[in-house]
Amino acid sequence: MSTATLSPQFPLAPYKSLANEELAARIDDVRREFGRKLLILGHHYQQDEVIAHTDLGGDSYQLSQMAAAQTECRYIVFCGVHFMAETADILANRPEKLAERHGERVTVILPDMAAGCSMADMAAIDQVEAAWADLGEVIDTDDITPVTYINSAASLKAFCGRNGGIVCTSSNAKAVLEWSFKRTKRVFFFPDQHLGRNTALQLGITNEQMPVFNPFGGDLGGNSEAAIENSKVILWNGHCSVHQMFQKAHVEQFRAQYPGIKILVHPECPQEVNDLADVSGSTSKIIKTVEASPPGTKWAIGTELHLVNRLKQQHPEQEIHFLSPVVCMCATMYRIDLAHLCWSLENLRAGTPVNVLEVDDDVAKWSLVALERMLEVN
Ligand code: 13P
Ligand code: SF4
Repeated sequence: MSTATLSPQFPLAPYKSLANEELAARIDDVRREFGRKLLILGHHYQQDEVIAHTDLGGDSYQLSQMAAAQTECRYIVFCGVHFMAETADILANRPEKLAERHGERVTVILPDMAAGCSMADMAAIDQVEAAWADLGEVIDTDDITPVTYINSAASLKAFCGRNGGIVCTSSNAKAVLEWSFKRTKRVFFFPDQHLGRNTALQLGITNEQMPVFNPFGGDLGGNSEAAIENSKVILWNGHCSVHQMFQKAHVEQFRAQYPGIKILVHPECPQEVNDLADVSGSTSKIIKTVEASPPGTKWAIGTELHLVNRLKQQHPEQEIHFLSPVVCMCATMYRIDLAHLCWSLENLRAGTPVNVLEVDDDVAKWSLVALERMLEVN
């Protein structure tokens, strides 16, 4: 991945001491000036004051669709995390879209480059390639579909594209596994073991058929040859540090204290929590589930704090609790604030865009193969 590094006309530091009202007014000015040429996308985990300045919002699957569908915009400012902006760059600048625009690229900006994803960082391309070679000593890799959760670096998506694999999101993971099993006997699923396990269990695959590959675990990721030979889904030893915090004991406490309460979680939660939930799904499914529920419904929701707090505010007719006594927020999503948004927009307007994200051609080409497969499966 390469990033443009023009010297910004405006340094970041002064923006950090401006009041939110002033930042908001200046952001509005830039948005008015650019009109439809500028698209600000926001993930559901963003803070409310950032969400207020987005044109469109959604879960990872919807945000990918939005980036892929654009015709008029020339700049996408992505209020989310790094892998989301990379995906937007790949989809918005795919060959057919570039041809429509006579070669003109859409500039994709991540307001703070430090907005990464700790789960995505748990699988590096050299580790995945080494694991693939290692597995190939014991089983036929032609009979494995590599599936990467969209929460991963573009290089991993490219690996999947090159090897007959696919990208999934939390909203189409089951359909992606079904797609994969029509093609091969096994799946290698990275980086989130929980989404992989929770989804494969729905297809009747057992925990015994899902060894966990630990990239630091030595040969075969710490598994025996028999475990790999008997596997259906080989899970990468990765997790989300936010969703890992929700525990079975929290579900039990809520059920004991609030009879009739329903548990609603994201499938990045560990199996023992996911198994006890009434509903499990992507951030959009969580929102839709609450929206569709009658007044008086009681919920304990296990996903990122900002989304749960927003749902609480938007649905005072329901009783919404956060499914953990400790604060579980995505610290990297939270890095995107009005100061970074205003700073990146004003530099864009001044012709010195900052934090431009451009995926290398070869990685983009092969990632696109895996992403297009993802967009066809829902
Ligand atoms: P969604 O695709 O469900 O929005 O999830 C993205 C994510 O990062 C959850 O932690
Ligand atoms: Fe990554 Fe977890 Fe944050 Fe989602 S909530 S972006 S998986 S660290």
